[in-house]
Amino acid sequence: MTNEATAIKPEASGAEDTQAQGQVIVTCENLGKTYTTGKVSVRALEGINLSVRRGEFLCLCGPSGSGKSTLLNLIGGLDTPDSGTVTVVGRELNKLKRDELANLRLHHLGIVFQAFNLIPVLSARENVEMVLQVQGRPAKERRAIAMRCLADVGLDELADRRPAELSGGQQQRVAIARAIAPGPDLILADEPSASLDSRTAESLLELMAELNARHGVTFVLSTHDEQVMKYAERLIRLRDGRVESEETRQ
Ligand SMILES: Nc1ncnc2c1ncn2[C@@H]1O[C@H](COP(=O)(O)OP(=O)(O)OP(=O)(O)O)[C@@H](O)[C@H]1O
Ligand SMILES: [Mg+2]
Repeated sequence: MTNEATAIKPEASGAEDTQAQGQVIVTCENLGKTYTTGKVSVRALEGINLSVRRGEFLCLCGPSGSGKSTLLNLIGGLDTPDSGTVTVVGRELNKLKRDELANLRLHHLGIVFQAFNLIPVLSARENVEMVLQVQGRPAKERRAIAMRCLADVGLDELADRRPAELSGGQQQRVAIARAIAPGPDLILADEPSASLDSRTAESLLELMAELNARHGVTFVLSTHDEQVMKYAERLIRLRDGRVESEETRQ
């Protein structure tokens, strides 16, 4: 069982202070990734250099196949690059042992997949609590945090429902509540609005923007959706595995 005492603390490793708003919390240096299936190789990413600062709301966009999901997977430590490095909260991912990487993910990252990945037999509250249980938090505290996060996403009254008893948008909100519950430094979300109607997507984005503004949660999203791009403070456009352009907005 993991607990807070074993969490990776960047300061304990002598890494730079990444706690303050505006500090760099993700750095990708010269990242490359090739997938090989049989005799066919696809160069999914090449020469990606990118940093993310604490408190940013960053959006990755670009055509299908441009490398958005691959890049999010590398930043989340769900896959490994074949060249270059990814550093998250001062830790270089490919230097971490398996359990250190799992710990870093558990305490510092929230990951929201397009297909929510909720556990069907658990209620919304239990889905949110599960990650807190893995963190080793006591039952009472878990319940309180889960209910607060469900309230943050407007679902406290539906906390006892199972995923199948919730709409797609409500399930996506549970996935976000689960991602924010451990108090991560960074939330990675791959096409978070893709399976939602435009009204539900809009309220989900407002929620993320509010979490960003009010709680300083850093977001890195991927999307095809113009509606999502509107919310981005910074937009990075990928094409054929490379950064094509970068735009900062107010
Ligand atoms: N597991 C895999 N095995 C082989 N090739 C892959 C794999 N995952 C992705 N690719 C290829 O790598 C390239 C980048 O894919 P990626 O999924 O990162 O693109 P994307 O920008 O997320 O696309 P989409 O907008 O369709 O989700 C594509 O050419 C894709 O076919
Ligand atoms: Mg994708």
